[in-house]
Amino acid sequence: MSVRDRVVVVSGATGGLGRVVTQRFAQEGAKLALLGRSLESLDALAQEYELDESQILTYALDLSAPEATTEAATAVLEKFGRIEVLLNLVGGWVGGKALIDTEADELEDMIEQHIRASYNMLKAFVPPMVRDDWGRVLAVSSPSGSRPPGRNALYAVGKAGMEALMLSLANEVRGSGVTANLVLVDTIDTKHAREKNPTEKNQSWTTPEEITATLLHLCSKEAGIINGARIPLFGQPH
Ligand SMILES: NC(=O)c1ccc[n+]([C@@H]2O[C@H](COP(=O)([O-])OP(=O)(O)OC[C@H]3O[C@@H](n4cnc5c(N)ncnc54)[C@H](OP(=O)(O)O)[C@@H]3O)[C@@H](O)[C@H]2O)c1
Repeated sequence: MSVRDRVVVVSGATGGLGRVVTQRFAQEGAKLALLGRSLESLDALAQEYELDESQILTYALDLSAPEATTEAATAVLEKFGRIEVLLNLVGGWVGGKALIDTEADELEDMIEQHIRASYNMLKAFVPPMVRDDWGRVLAVSSPSGSRPPGRNALYAVGKAGMEALMLSLANEVRGSGVTANLVLVDTIDTKHAREKNPTEKNQSWTTPEEITATLLHLCSKEAGIINGARIPLFGQPH
């Protein structure tokens, strides 16, 4: 299940999950293009993990701007010559309010972060994979995307839209050597609360390391048969 020398684009690399993914994929020998809004944070991450310049490209952009994602893809191709894996790890949360109490700009924010950013990423980074007959496109969603609980409508809209883009893409690339899959997570347990202080609530939480292990498997040659999947990583049937 090696990603050695694979060219892997990580968006949201400085996030809670992105940091762990970056470190593990680097340890596995991948060539990494790290995307986020702050070059300073991205460079600090590369320094912290002592990533060699030949192994890494850091690139700051706002993913909601289509020209920016196209330019980022060009920069990755210029540095590494190919794009093989896209790990789309961007997207925050707004919630905790009844639908009728939410604001229109909160809806816009969720559409920008989850739908527009994903759309721009897919348009920019998938064509080189299709051209080379090999690729893995992966994103992290939430059970809310298909079963929206109360007080979570806008986030659910974002995740549902992002899933629609990914699943439609999976149908379009079928048989091409490129696959598109989603892992579904309830809450990312960056502090390992489930292990340190187990409660009924945190039993469904997933550590970044557990998510990373699944992403690594989905990047393998053996996982090429998995396409259009929504894989639940919260310890219960979905
Ligand atoms: N956290 C959870 O409990 C949870 C649960 C289910 C699913 N997920 C999903 O899992 C993924 C990773 O979550 P996370 O908790 O690691 O996220 P996070 O800590 O909030 O990090 C998000 C990252 O995305 C970057 N980003 C946000 N908007 C951007 C934009 N417009 N352009 C470029 N970069 C942008 C941020 O960069 P800056 O440094 O510039 O802000 C940050 O590095 C997301 O898709 C999230 O929706 C998370």
